[in-house]
Amino acid sequence: MIKTNESVFALNTEKISYVFHADKTGLLIHDYFGKKVDLVDFDTKPLSVKASVLKGTSVIYDTSKDDQLSMDSVPLEFSFPHKGDFRSTPILLRNEKYGYVFDFKFDGHEVREPQKLEGLPTPHNANEELVVYLKDEKANVKLELHYLVFEQANIIARNVVIVNEGELDLEILKALSYNLDLVNRNFELVTLAGGWASEMNKQIQPIVEGKYSIESRTGNSSAKFNPFFMIKEKTATLDNGDVYSFNLIYSGNHLEEVELGHYDLLRVEAGINPFCFDYKLKKGERFETPFAVLTYSDQGINGARLNMHHFTNNHVIPSQWNNTIRPVVINNWEATYMKFNERKVLSIAKKAKKYGAELFVLDDGWFGARNDDHAGLGDYDVNTSKLPHGLSGLSKRVHKKGMKFGLWFEPESVNPDSECFRAHPDWAVTNVDREPSLGRNQLILDLSKKEVQDYIIENVGNVLSNAKIEFVKWDMNRNISDIPGLNCGEFYHRYMLGLYRVIGTLTSKFPDVLFEGCASGGNRFDLGILSYFPQIWASDDTDGHERLTIQSGYFLGYPQSTISAHVSSAPSHQLLRTTPIDTRFNVAMFGVLGYELNFKELTKFERKRCLALIDVYKKNREVLQFGDFYELDSYTDNFAKWQVLSSDKKDSVVGHFVTLQKTNPKETILNTYGLIDEQQYKVDVVPVEHNIKDFGGLINMIMPIHVNPNGWLVNFISKRMTLPGEKESYVTYGNALNNKGVILNPEWTASGMNEGVRILKDFGSRLYLIKANETH
Ligand code: GLA
Repeated sequence: MIKTNESVFALNTEKISYVFHADKTGLLIHDYFGKKVDLVDFDTKPLSVKASVLKGTSVIYDTSKDDQLSMDSVPLEFSFPHKGDFRSTPILLRNEKYGYVFDFKFDGHEVREPQKLEGLPTPHNANEELVVYLKDEKANVKLELHYLVFEQANIIARNVVIVNEGELDLEILKALSYNLDLVNRNFELVTLAGGWASEMNKQIQPIVEGKYSIESRTGNSSAKFNPFFMIKEKTATLDNGDVYSFNLIYSGNHLEEVELGHYDLLRVEAGINPFCFDYKLKKGERFETPFAVLTYSDQGINGARLNMHHFTNNHVIPSQWNNTIRPVVINNWEATYMKFNERKVLSIAKKAKKYGAELFVLDDGWFGARNDDHAGLGDYDVNTSKLPHGLSGLSKRVHKKGMKFGLWFEPESVNPDSECFRAHPDWAVTNVDREPSLGRNQLILDLSKKEVQDYIIENVGNVLSNAKIEFVKWDMNRNISDIPGLNCGEFYHRYMLGLYRVIGTLTSKFPDVLFEGCASGGNRFDLGILSYFPQIWASDDTDGHERLTIQSGYFLGYPQSTISAHVSSAPSHQLLRTTPIDTRFNVAMFGVLGYELNFKELTKFERKRCLALIDVYKKNREVLQFGDFYELDSYTDNFAKWQVLSSDKKDSVVGHFVTLQKTNPKETILNTYGLIDEQQYKVDVVPVEHNIKDFGGLINMIMPIHVNPNGWLVNFISKRMTLPGEKESYVTYGNALNNKGVILNPEWTASGMNEGVRILKDFGSRLYLIKANETH
């Protein structure tokens, strides 16, 4: 709900308020962003920072209107440099006459039906849109500040559009989407850092005077720093205290800055990275910045997380995928890499079907001369020595087995050794007459060029039209270097506009195809991609234990339904670690679970567990993919606890994960958030089984004769029988689980084995199913 009296603007959602006003000087002053508040007769005074005393060396903005107001010492709604604000500002412009000095004053507003941006993704189904106009009268340049209000998700989405109405060309040197000025309250900054196969590591640091930034310069949003970040009160916990979360609906180079000044004002800003950015705007032209997403919760990290999750599920991903159950995929990448043929992949698909797979995805290596990563990218003709019946033949055979068919593409790249490159060397991103640097033996196609966009749209479109393909994995496997010399300051952003045109066209032409984004895993995991592709391959690291950290990071900003997670074989290809099959499964269940292995190569024990666990997953898939997600314990080095809860609060799944076991571990408590206090629930552990080989020499404690734990007899028995795990089942009220929690059976410490002992082992885990007992 947007309330205004022409100069005060109060944006309210169900739980938060965002307030600013136009001052008598024409500046926009930010008053409040936090838990919902009411104003008396649009009076912002009780909330705002008072500018009644001028501080020392300050520059007075406009002495004729207010001889005490300096831009440097008040929270501003949208700041600009060279008029007294010496902090980092969201924009920097230049023209021939006024140089860097621009002066933007309030010039009216409009409340309207939400409208879409022309070239950038726009979140859908906003309740209302506010546009506030600022104008530099002399240079004739306008700023439009856009605010989309999402009442139920408690989100404000903001951006700025720059309009040049002057005669002179305007150079845009920096155009972030917003700045937000908050009064510091002992805030900490939480960012997500990483790299290939180790995405989304949480970093928490105090905010002290000075400026701290994270950014990407790789041409994509990058695994180095995700555009998502949080500002939290130092004392805020998982479920209590003030937390602000921020994200950006953009997939290219981005910058996030937090600056704490001497007057205890914190400036937060984010948007397109000004690195190598210099955009020319002629008379009459507009420049759109991407929408940024802002939220607040007084209910700690979990509260802010839920706002971001609801927003992404309901307003970012294409509407047809909202709450649409995602299939269990079997992908052949880790099972075969590029060494496959039709017979081999069909046999992988057929076996996986038995274990619940619903869709077979053929990964890299199906086209051109693609037998390794040196050749073929850019080409679309099928490699018939691997696939003699072509894609349509393979698709038919997969469908005959009762499964759907999906295909991997990497349309933005080209190998120099490809038909595409030989025919169009000028389509690759290169710098004039220099030899370009390669990444994974490939170059990037220049998506800022219309003919390149059309080539991709036509070729991917033809493949999708000529065979029955229900799923596309859209990969992008290198960072961008060697950008062109011509219009270099516009290149990175024009590439993004081109990409959005390509994926926007293809996803609307094939609305029933489920697109999964990928960039060597999570190198482009952001809300821009999610605006077209409802899920993204989260990491090339499929090790079950590693995925705990990676997914824990993603969950801060992104819902489970967007995080593609596969069960792979052990030892993992990335670390050679053997994580128990139950844990590989249980971690992937809190995302879009798939398989990436050859079932033929699993042990009999692992296959048996897969059969049992896929059944649990499918029975609880809706709540696992779309339920509210809570972290129950801040993931430290040795314990993670995750919970999902259905919207009616009657159905919940909790996952407990351990790392290295310790002797005499503490009591483990199964607690929850959000169950109905007065409702009875039944709690059941998902039954586990143990392989007798796990007990080593202890097996002799129960054998009538001494046996070699690695000898033929134990091997023989272990293939034919398993030992049952603990039995644990409770009926209790929601308030007991929410408040104190159920104390679980003790863990194994050289103890005897019975149904009251939980044997977790290193990297072990348990799932608990919690269902409302409808008769009570
Ligand atoms: C990237 C992806 C992998 C796989 C390979 C294929 O690394 O992240 O999942 O598709 O490319 O080359």
